[in-house]
Order: sequence, then structure tokens, then C-alpha cells
Amino acid sequence: MTNANKDKLSSARFSQATDAFVEIFTASVGFDQRMAQQDIEGSIAHATMLCTIGILTEAERDSIFQGLEQIKGEIERGEFQWSIQQEDVHMNIEARLTALIGMAGKKLHTGRSRNDQVATDIRLYMRMEINAITAMIERLQQALLDLAEREAETIMPGFTHLQVAQPVTFGHHLMAWFEMLVRDKERLQDCLKRVNIMPLGAAALAGTSYPIDRELTAKLLGFSRPSANSLDSVSDRDFAIEFTAAASIIMMHLSRFSEELVLWTSAQFSFIELPDAFCTGSSIMPQKKNPDVPELVRGKCGRVTGHLMSLLMLMKSQPLAYNKDNQEDKEPLFDTVDTLINCLRAFADMVPHIQAKRENMFNAAKKGFATATDLADYLVRKGMPFRHAHEVVGLAVRLGVESERDLSELSLAELQKFSEMITDDVFSVLSLEGSVAARKHIGGTAPDTVRQAIQTARAGL
Ligand code: ARG
Repeated sequence: MTNANKDKLSSARFSQATDAFVEIFTASVGFDQRMAQQDIEGSIAHATMLCTIGILTEAERDSIFQGLEQIKGEIERGEFQWSIQQEDVHMNIEARLTALIGMAGKKLHTGRSRNDQVATDIRLYMRMEINAITAMIERLQQALLDLAEREAETIMPGFTHLQVAQPVTFGHHLMAWFEMLVRDKERLQDCLKRVNIMPLGAAALAGTSYPIDRELTAKLLGFSRPSANSLDSVSDRDFAIEFTAAASIIMMHLSRFSEELVLWTSAQFSFIELPDAFCTGSSIMPQKKNPDVPELVRGKCGRVTGHLMSLLMLMKSQPLAYNKDNQEDKEPLFDTVDTLINCLRAFADMVPHIQAKRENMFNAAKKGFATATDLADYLVRKGMPFRHAHEVVGLAVRLGVESERDLSELSLAELQKFSEMITDDVFSVLSLEGSVAARKHIGGTAPDTVRQAIQTARAGL
């Protein structure tokens, strides 16, 4: 037997050493060491509880505290020797603890199992990351509000089917992005309610015969309550799936923002300028300035959605309770966290530096007969049925297309040929400014309404 295999878990049960490859194959310490701080936090709470119910003496508890405190420092300083033979983060820390403090270290695992331990660690970890992600979303929201404020009056074409539809303000468009993030934050906060429930005490699957005080441990760890069923506690990974689903939706939103930025920076649109620091050149074409950051974010959306599928498939058909399959939850989860936070950060850093090319936006809105609906509404206000007005405006647009002029560039006499109801007050309606200003109801694109929405949003942040 190798030295490592002498320490093999439950070694007394085994007459054969673990195959060297299997040892590597089954180890998770390479990635689950990311949860080391949570593992220590959980152990401190567990030891505290074990002492209050008389399983540990105060001296043993304090020695565990000291040992864990030292290990925490070793990990933070990068001095901790992680070992594959100890399989995972939990065994590594416990083995080191026992090496440091002896017998008391061996008592720490009383009344718990790695099954409830790992479920607890992931939840503590997720709770921390959800808070960090929420803070990053709020940074991006702030940036969007500032830019929306700057561009509250900037007129651009609004699109449906990527065809010019009606004029909108750029501020209004940015506030649409903001709203998506409002829902994203709500989804994360809702997910957090189910993350923040404590599985510790479920032990391997059936609970423990020690008179543990789960309410106390939950309180010490800041969980809202202990979980209700021990079998469910060690097997449930719904919270990870929910989180990854929420993350996938956020990434989907970022991919939509990205797509628009990519389009808008193209010579064909030329609506915005992205800061040089967020773009790169081409190795062959000297003129190129590529929107790499939005493109990469758009691409990473697929990666996170892939992780969601991985986790769903991981849990599919798993019998109760814990199965080793669950060790596969961590890499998709961790990569989701990293990808999401990096993409949000890239956007939060980039958005404040987006320069609107206001004149280009305005001219583009002018080109697409964006005020055609306003002309129809004008005729309706003068008593024409809407379907009839729709037809009349269609004819006017046709003349505009044929003579390469916007509706506002047609003469009154020309317009009056389509309907006698048209008088010279029509031109205020046909202007882009008039069109956006008229949409001043809740949720409308009028500059004042957008400013109001920004104010409300700021109060809510
Ligand atoms: N490394 C394991 C995991 O990530 C910890 C739990 C192992 N439990 C067990 N009975 N093998 O899920």
C-alpha cells in the first residue's frame, strides 16, 4: 500500500488500495477547493453546536477553532498543501486539522457527513456569489441610468423586424435594457430564498442519532431555516439549476445588448462609438476596429446555457438520496458564476464610455418614414376611421419612396391630395421631435417621460 492509500477513507473496510487512476478520476479537490472558506465556516458552526449539546468539550471546540483559523490563513496565503489522496476540500481540511490538533480534529465529523457538508458549502458559496452578482448588476444599471439621462432627448429609429418602425429616444431604448436587469435581479433574489436553507444535519441521508440543534447551526450560518427532509437535503440541487437558469436569462439579455452594440458600431448603422479600450484591431486589415467585448459576451451566452443543460441532465433520473454524480455540479456552477460576473463587469465598465452619434441616429430615423403612424393617428383625431387612415398614409409613403423624401418633406398641397382633412398643423406631427414628445404616457418614449422613469429607477436602486 502506498502511503496515501493507508489514509484511504474508511480504510478498514478496504483490502485493496484505490487504483491510482481512479484516485485522480474521483477526486474533486482540484475544483472544490474554491469552497474552502465556506467549508471552514460550516465546520465552525457545526463545532459550536456540538459543544452546546455536550458532544465536544469547550477545550476541544476551541482547539478546533484554532486549527481551522490556522488552516484558513494557510489557504489564504497559498501555503496549504492540497492533496489528491484526500479527494476533496472537506477531507483535505479535516486531515490537516487532525494533523494540527490531534484527537479533537477527529471528533469534528460527529453527526455529519460529507453529503450534508457539501450541500451546505455550495449553498453558502452560492449565497455569497449571488450577492456579488447582484451588486455587479446594480453597477451596470447605474451606468445605464447615467447614459440614459445623457441621451434622454436623443432621437433614433425604433425597430421592429429590424426595419425602422417609429422614432424613439435613445434614453428610452437604454431604459428597456435597464428593465431586463430589474427582472434579472428579482429572479436572483427569489432564487436566493431557496439557496439560503440549511441541509446540515441531514448527515449521510437519514439524519443522525445525536441530539443536534439544527436551529442553532442554521442561525450561526445565517440560513433562514434548516431543511425539512434529510433525504431531500443531501440530494437537492434545484437551487443550482435555478441559479443557472437565472444566469442564462441574464446572459441572454447581455447577448441582446451585445448584438445591438455590434450592429450600431458597424459602418452601416454608425449609431455609436465604443471606447478603443474595449475594441481590438485586425492583424491584417489596418482600418478595422472590432467590437470584441460585445461579441465575446454574445458568444459566452451559449456557454452558460450549456451549463444549465448540464445541470438539468445531471439531476435527471437520479434516485434519492446523494449520488456521486452530484460532484459534477460544481464545475458548471463555478464557470457560470465566473462567466456571468466577468460579462456583467465588462458591460458595467464599457457602458459609461459609449458615445452616441446623435446626428446619425436622427438621420436614420428620418429615413424610414418613422412618423407614418403619427400621420395616421393625426387623421384619426380628425375623425377618419383608423383603417382608412392607414390606407391614406400608405399612399403618402409611396409618394415619399418614389420621390426619395420623408413625409415631413412633402408639401402641404401634396399631402392634401391624399386627404382634405390635412392642414398645416400636420408638420408638427410629422416631425420626429413631435412624434416622441406625444408618447408621454407611462412607459412612453417622450424625453420627459424617460427622465421620469430614470428618476423612479434611481429611487428604486
Ligand atoms: N466531493 C463530494 C461532492 O462533491 C463530496 C461528497 C462525497 N460524499 C460521498 N459519500 N462520496 O459531492
